[in-house]
Parts: sequence; C-alpha cells; structure tokens
Amino acid sequence: MSADTSVPIYPLLAERKSPRSLDESVTLSPDEIRALLEAARWAPSANNLQPWRFFVGQRGDSVFTNILESLRPFNQGWAKRASLLALVAGVTKNEDGSENNSYMYDCGLAVSQFTLEAHSRGYVAHQMAGFEKDVAIGKLSIAPGLIPVVVIAIGKQSGVEQLDEATAQRELAPRVRKPLEEIVVIGLEH
Ligand SMILES: Cc1cc2nc3c(=O)[nH]c(=O)nc-3n(C[C@H](O)[C@H](O)[C@H](O)COP(=O)(O)O)c2cc1C
Repeated sequence: MSADTSVPIYPLLAERKSPRSLDESVTLSPDEIRALLEAARWAPSANNLQPWRFFVGQRGDSVFTNILESLRPFNQGWAKRASLLALVAGVTKNEDGSENNSYMYDCGLAVSQFTLEAHSRGYVAHQMAGFEKDVAIGKLSIAPGLIPVVVIAIGKQSGVEQLDEATAQRELAPRVRKPLEEIVVIGLEH
C-alpha cells in the first residue's frame, strides 16, 4: 500500500517500504545487481569523495552467509530469504588522514539511491543496523579504515504467512510518519 501522504509525491517514494517477507526462490541477474550498484555510485557526496564501499553476496554464496551470520537473530530470521545481502562500509578518513565527518551521511545517500533503484525494478530493499560490526569485519576481512554502516536485504516481497505472528502484524500495520508540523521547524506555511 502506498504511503498516506498529505499531498501527492513521486510514486516511487510513496510506494517504497521495508517488508520482511521475501520470496526465497528469486534471484537477481548480474545486470540487475550492477544497476543497483550503479545507482548508488551516482549519489552525491561531500567533496565527491564517495566514501562508500559495498560487499555484496547472493543467497547461497559465502559472502551472503558471512553477512547473514553477522546479523542479530531477529534479522537473521527473515533476511535469510533475501536474494542479496549487501553490507555498506564507510571510508572514515580523508586522503590527508583527517576525519571525514560526513561518511555516514554520504553512505546513507548512496544506500537511498540503491534502495530506490531496487524498488523501481520491482524488488524491495530493507536496511538494517541490527548487526554485529565486529563479526562482519572479521568474516568479510574488512580492511582497517572502513567501518560497517548498514546491511541491506534485497529481494521480492512475498506473503506474510512465512513470518511469525508478531512480525506479520508489523508487516501489515499501516506505515506511519510524524506530521510535517512536527518535523518542519520553520517553513511549512510558505
Ligand atoms: C539505518 C536503518 C536501520 C534499520 N535497522 C533495521 C533492523 O535492524 N531491522 C529491521 O527489521 N528493520 C530495520 N530498519 C527498517 C526500519 O525499521 C524502517 O525503515 C522503518 O520502520 C520505516 O518503515 P518503511 O521503510 O517501510 O517506511 C532500519 C532502517 C534504517 C534506515
């Protein structure tokens, strides 16, 4: 179901959502996977530093298994049916050794583009912070200087009957947001 927006917005934005019921028979083609990564690649970033690095596994391969094993148990329970798992790590320092204070922000922009490209192709992309960074660093041999930021489960939405009762209820609940009056401190009346 599309989001209940106060005015019409671009349909892809209204329809994007983060379901947990995924069809475990679905695979993405190499061209589709490349397109998601290409969409991320063209995200804006501070000074065009592009401080994002992707580790992508397809269900059944060792990268997928390693990312899955880094997830917290609740997330493992549903994300095991994803077609892809992608871990995004941020480059924390600039070339001169100083801190890049916007690497997380920039990673979020890249992930947003990745997510919307996935949804535009009929897939869903569900982001997760519920994973153990140290486990991911060890299992994926993530280089020093890269910090895991988020894991994304990509797949095709399926029926809620595969979920436990509580998770199914969350899936079926209306998607909600704070009202604009709360999040816009100045400027809504223009
Ligand atoms: C940074 C981030 C971390 C998240 N972590 C998790 C998570 O660990 N497990 C989970 O099931 N969902 C997670 N989510 C999904 C959010 O719960 C979801 O985006 C939010 O409830 C809004 O729902 P919607 O994406 O369907 O609009 C995360 C989303 C973001 C952006």
